[in-house]
Amino acid sequence: MEAIRIEKTKQPKAKPSDQGSLGFGRYYTDHMFLMDYDAGRGWHSPRIVPYAPIALDPAAMCLHYGQEVFEGMKAYCGADGKVRLFRPEQNMARLNLSNDRLCIPPVDEAFAVEAVKALVRTDADWIPAAEGTSLYIRPFIFAVDPHIGVHPAAHLLFCIILSPVGAYYPEGLNPVKIFVEQAYVRSVRGGMGYVKTGGNYAASLKAQEEAHKAGYTQVLWLDGIERRYVEEVGTMNVFFVLGGEVVTPALQGSILGGITRKSCIELLQSWGVKVTERPLALAELLEAAKTGQLEEAFGSGTAAVISPIGELRCGEETLLINGGKIGALSQRLYDALTGIQWGRAQDTFGWMQEV
Ligand code: COI
Repeated sequence: MEAIRIEKTKQPKAKPSDQGSLGFGRYYTDHMFLMDYDAGRGWHSPRIVPYAPIALDPAAMCLHYGQEVFEGMKAYCGADGKVRLFRPEQNMARLNLSNDRLCIPPVDEAFAVEAVKALVRTDADWIPAAEGTSLYIRPFIFAVDPHIGVHPAAHLLFCIILSPVGAYYPEGLNPVKIFVEQAYVRSVRGGMGYVKTGGNYAASLKAQEEAHKAGYTQVLWLDGIERRYVEEVGTMNVFFVLGGEVVTPALQGSILGGITRKSCIELLQSWGVKVTERPLALAELLEAAKTGQLEEAFGSGTAAVISPIGELRCGEETLLINGGKIGALSQRLYDALTGIQWGRAQDTFGWMQEV
């Protein structure tokens, strides 16, 4: 692969003045990474350029048929001042899984990690250091052929942008209220639910809006066929502590294989906690809540980290979980993960990569 050409901006933007109120996705750094794909030539011309709007032909295929994939990862400013990425090779492996599903040519995973590092180094002065903040990294690929026939693109753009962020949910680490969605579905096996593509999120918007209006942060999706089994929450995978055992829905083709999900499972197992990946029926959850076996619930994700679930609304029933407070295991996972990510705890798994 060619070397990355770097063109620095002559007009750096003002940085957010208050790192305590960054929110999520409101600010973008001074530069972005771009690389083109042309059939017959492959991926070429990797470059870091000033952050700017991208001109697209109105017929660009991504705008019409959604041939697009993306990733979400973070760079953390460690307690020792060093900047690190969390399991970036996992993100690029998943990017290629998404590429395969969307008929997008694969990228060189090691090169893509290097591209992220080069961009993060270029915008290193944007990495926030306040407690709970990080630099969110959004790699994405989209089809640019000006052609409104339906077929895989021959021309694509790989782009990476960076955004200094705080907590994804305004609740932070306070438990969120989740609405169990029984009318809309997100994905079915054989569909695209297991990959990161914009269409999955577009499919989620209406349910999310209705849940918001009713006072809930996100929805809990049920399987698209029987509508009996819990799958995932809007932007997170989901875990339940049932009678001392941790249960998370098995990845069966319609659920995103989260990297934070995988890391939670590995952490829990290393602590000797029993974790089971299996189909989990909503009826079982309701029953467990009645018998007092439903001890904790939480979501996991790159953006959200660990988000305790304090309340589940299911039809006419409202389940209050752990008295609406964060559970001991959710707190322990949050502390362990963020401890490793911010370099406060030893990285015994070898998950972090210095930038
Ligand atoms: C992430 O957690 O990184 C995600 O991609 C979720 C996102 C849609 C905010």
